[in-house]
Amino acid sequence: MDKNRPYIFITRKLPENTIAPLKEFAKVVVWEKEDEPVPSDHLIAEAKKADALLTMVSDRIDKEVLKSAKNLKVISNMAVGYDNIDVSEATNRGILICNTPDVLTETTADLTFALLMATARRLPEAVDYVKEGHWDQWGPMLLAGADVHHKTIGIVGMGRIGTAVAKRATGFDMNILYFNRSRNREAETKVGAKYASFDNLLQQADFIVCLAPLTSDTKHLFTYDSFKKMMPTARFINASRGGLVDEQALISALEEGQIAGAGLDVFESEPIDNNHPLLSFPNVVALPHIGSASVETREAMAKLASQNIAEALKGKRPKALVNHEVYEEE
Ligand code: GLV
Repeated sequence: MDKNRPYIFITRKLPENTIAPLKEFAKVVVWEKEDEPVPSDHLIAEAKKADALLTMVSDRIDKEVLKSAKNLKVISNMAVGYDNIDVSEATNRGILICNTPDVLTETTADLTFALLMATARRLPEAVDYVKEGHWDQWGPMLLAGADVHHKTIGIVGMGRIGTAVAKRATGFDMNILYFNRSRNREAETKVGAKYASFDNLLQQADFIVCLAPLTSDTKHLFTYDSFKKMMPTARFINASRGGLVDEQALISALEEGQIAGAGLDVFESEPIDNNHPLLSFPNVVALPHIGSASVETREAMAKLASQNIAEALKGKRPKALVNHEVYEEE
């Protein structure tokens, strides 16, 4: 092996065509167990050798991993979110952090809207009803859910995905409210979204949709008080990160009927097993973190994640760079 070739460790198996460009100039090692994350001691051992890591949301890249990574120049996370990485520690060590924005926006918005509709119209309950052989009779109020059209959607986190969800909501003649760290004038003009305070949004929305990134400021943004402010007919949808929600508070709110249901693609600690308390509610629709999971989009994400690494290792500034400060500090 040519000792001068950079060493790249990829934490999950990805389509060959997406990583082939890396093999042209680097030694590429892939964790081969398809459905199992890399154990942390193995990740630390690989990080020690690596010039680049291509990681997933299921990998925790903390101080311990980073401290051992003496040669590491770039970590490319195959996700738009990067709360699984200690970015400030990486920045201090001059390690570039990259993500995969844009390519997953529309796909994630599709899933978010599908989850909203499935929760409103009780689709999983209805599917089980038929499959389990309960459908003896048609009934006038059988599995009656809530309308989506002409209702109010309240989007918390009006970034690219939030705006794409709002665009879908316009097709359902929905009234669109949003809450965001800063005003999104483009969304206001393009889709007629109206800015609301967090509390006003909670009080007025029929569907509260969480799409904000997880940061130290947004951790447990949704507390028991937040759910209590929602209407008893409201449904809470989370397609961002479980950490934005105090799950115990959500469980209490559902037990007490403070809200009418929840659609959750994400959980505080993933994966969850089938005796997780949230799964005991018939009005909870639970998905295994599949927001961006279409074949086309996952391939596009893997390609962009590889491209980030190629750019970084070839001395170019990666397009999907998160911690620009690394360059500014030089
Ligand atoms: C997935 O959760 C992502 O952040 O892309």
